[in-house]
Amino acid sequence: DTRDPTSLRTPIVAVLGHVDHGKTSLLDKIRGSAVIEGEAGAITQHIGATAVPLDVISEIAGELVDPDDFDLPGLLFIDTPGHHSFTTLRSRGGALADIAILVVDVNDGFQPQTLEALDILKRSQTPFIVAANKIDTVPGWNPNEDSPINATYDAQSDRVRQTLDTSLYEIIGNLSDEGLSADLYWRVQNFQRNIGVVPVSAMTGEGVPDLLAVMMGLSQRYMKEEMEIDVAGPGVGTVLEVKEEKGFGTTIDTVLYDGTIRADDELVVGGMNEPIVTDVRAILQPRPLAEIRTENRFEKVDSVSAAAGVKVAAPDLADAMAGAPVRVVRNRDRQEVIGEVEAE
Ligand code: GTP
Ligand code: MG
Repeated sequence: DTRDPTSLRTPIVAVLGHVDHGKTSLLDKIRGSAVIEGEAGAITQHIGATAVPLDVISEIAGELVDPDDFDLPGLLFIDTPGHHSFTTLRSRGGALADIAILVVDVNDGFQPQTLEALDILKRSQTPFIVAANKIDTVPGWNPNEDSPINATYDAQSDRVRQTLDTSLYEIIGNLSDEGLSADLYWRVQNFQRNIGVVPVSAMTGEGVPDLLAVMMGLSQRYMKEEMEIDVAGPGVGTVLEVKEEKGFGTTIDTVLYDGTIRADDELVVGGMNEPIVTDVRAILQPRPLAEIRTENRFEKVDSVSAAAGVKVAAPDLADAMAGAPVRVVRNRDRQEVIGEVEAE
């Protein structure tokens, strides 16, 4: 790792919302745009996450993001499933996140898992914005690929604009019913007090520059201090999933939010009955270009630094729990680390 000992890590962004409202499509769009911009190699696929560096964000967002205005390295997106049976994965994603995007289909509006996601964000006090997705499906929509929202909005007929406005104000009304003050994002002054609503299309890329600009702005403005970490320090993270992996036994898919995890580290992991103390056998990351959801071939790496999604293979993980803390012991007192894991 070539970064400074103390540096700013990538904020973790959870993408939450009702089933089929377009969470994965939105991330696919961001990945796809980077490929078009010739930046494919710069986006790295992690276990359960996608890292988009600042220069790529700036390429996609155009004049909405000037890289000189930011010193955070980019954004790490965590996709979550919208199906009702995945409540635990959603709460984990939500709890882990520094900031979040709540995706709402403009036609469908608020649905059960939208409300559930909202509760998770409220409980964890995670700052978030609402992506009002699928604006291209408004009848009569005139698409302007990858355009910022104001330009494409101006290019629509009065009737289309009215239809979109009605849907957007309905979403703002739904948020207000939940006790949250919200407005179209360009009218929001204080994103801690008001939720910004960003109209987007994961299909045409319209509004995606705005979405990225708002997420970078939010992170820089409200998260910067929390992002200051001792990169080389002992790693700290959360288990997203416990999985059997051919040739590796039980592994833990982990999102690392502090420090570094190395192939020779000792770990304490939250377990069913008591913390598990174990030695890392392998740190695994997806091979470049591998599709994350059908991932079955990994690459062994020597170390990984926060923020990152990694798969960790180690003995005795059978009792590890999704949602549990993971802490590297390294040169710390093992008993103290066990105590921290028990307390979480
Ligand atoms: P789950 O992971 O199952 O919760 O769904 P999701 O929120 O990830 O939705 P996904 O991205 O899989 O999209 C669901 C469907 O909506 C797919 O058929 C997408 O092609 C479509 N879709 C997503 N975003 C848009 C959009 O902006 N416009 C249009 N027209 N279709 C979209
Ligand atoms: Mg999805």
